Amino acid sequence: MTSEQALPPYFNINPNTALGGLGAPTTTEDFARIARACEAGRADLASRGLEDSGGRSLRLFSTWEITRYLIPVATGHFRRVLKQNPVLPQGRSETTGGAKWFTFDEVLRLRAHFAAEGSKTKEYLPYRPKGQPAKLAAVANFKGGVGKTSTAAHLAMSAALDGYKVLVIDLDSQGSMTSIFGGTVADEWQTVFPLLARHHARHLQGENQRRMDRGEAPMPLDDTLSDALTARSETLIQKTHWPNIDLIGAQLNLYWAEFQIPVWRMGSRGWKLWDALTDSLSEDGILDQYDVIFLDTPPALGYLTINGLAASDILLVPLGASFLEFDSTGRFFDMLHATFGSIEEAENMAARALGRDGLAFQWDAVRAVVTRFDPAQQAELAALMQAYLGPTLSPHRQGFTALIGQAGEQVQGIYEADYRDFNRETYVRGRETFDATYAAFKQLLIGSWHRDVQAAQQAAQ
Ligand SMILES: Nc1ncnc2c1ncn2[C@@H]1O[C@H](COP(=O)(O)OP(=O)(O)OP(=O)(O)O)[C@@H](O)[C@H]1O
Ligand SMILES: [Mg+2]
Repeated sequence: MTSEQALPPYFNINPNTALGGLGAPTTTEDFARIARACEAGRADLASRGLEDSGGRSLRLFSTWEITRYLIPVATGHFRRVLKQNPVLPQGRSETTGGAKWFTFDEVLRLRAHFAAEGSKTKEYLPYRPKGQPAKLAAVANFKGGVGKTSTAAHLAMSAALDGYKVLVIDLDSQGSMTSIFGGTVADEWQTVFPLLARHHARHLQGENQRRMDRGEAPMPLDDTLSDALTARSETLIQKTHWPNIDLIGAQLNLYWAEFQIPVWRMGSRGWKLWDALTDSLSEDGILDQYDVIFLDTPPALGYLTINGLAASDILLVPLGASFLEFDSTGRFFDMLHATFGSIEEAENMAARALGRDGLAFQWDAVRAVVTRFDPAQQAELAALMQAYLGPTLSPHRQGFTALIGQAGEQVQGIYEADYRDFNRETYVRGRETFDATYAAFKQLLIGSWHRDVQAAQQAAQ
């Protein structure tokens, strides 16, 4: 009998028992029921982590954390400066004489004070050339679950901690980034969709003008496109619980854009759909209001991703150090070549015929980034990937950390977690790996801004 007990569970399944556990066949209606159950559970979970006001709130920051990670001053000096300047935020402590804690708004004020009054040799504010537009960074890979959203969210938070003004744009109708930043999005009209529609509508208006100039009747705009003409980026941007991170959110209806965009494009071949997002943000002055804009994309190379990639200056492609992810990422680069190559080819044929300049997409930097790295298991594969990809693979590998994934609804990732909830060693290591991911990104950011500054200076000479 013992040998039968030891059999794996897929032997000897009784058909009657199997039938009994099967339940009735599933219909389309059942999907709605399941979706409602998920929605109710989600609302329950969300309500547990939320404040009475219903909003998400950011934790406090201690003197240790501020002087260790955010404002490069010695703790003693920090305390003295606060004492000497009673108008500065003084923080609050849980026990008399205990550590002082500050809101992030207060941290930003303190940083501004040190930048204005402190030693000029110290970097209190991050490099940001005046007069240059924001840099856009997209995180993309058509493979799912490789760490796109985690990477984008952590980069947005670390850039904000570093003092940059950040906008996050969620292009994924799964809306994970939107949840992380506590966004509420009723329908596609509160996503980037109206900006894309407006871009198309303006193009049609231009075509209509040319039609009328030729004495032909204009083509009427449908309701969607007419409504989109009045869309403005400002009305789509939401505040988040981070004082210096704003959001353009996403939800399921944004997926509609994947069907709508090709229909628009079929109707007017001259519409440069890949420019829609950049042009709209730029026209609305958004690129002058932020320092860095992060785009999270869906695990697909659809029209939204193409738009996001075409808009971006820096492209990060996360992947795990596993054979399947390496393999599929190779095919993603193949797809990027085919997609952008065919857009360029078609445009350049038209441009040559009209004697105009051709189109050549260009990114300041493209880097593959190893995520969820386990040095005990994956060192060999990562070394092989590095050998083949060379400088395209960022040398920093983002470590696997227990600090991600186990956090609750309110806390998203390591920058929002209170370090007292973790073993200090685990916290320091987890934080180190994301700080290093940010440092590698910041290197690209500063380098590409600096290249623009130099180009502008040369052009002015
Ligand atoms: N450095 C890390 N350490 C541990 N877990 C991680 C790390 N980065 C990401 N994860 C986990 O891996 C899973 C997938 O991550 P994420 O959602 O960021 O991937 P994605 O590429 O955005 O997925 P999708 O393709 O569905 O958009 C999540 O459960 C996340 O918590
Ligand atoms: Mg994602």
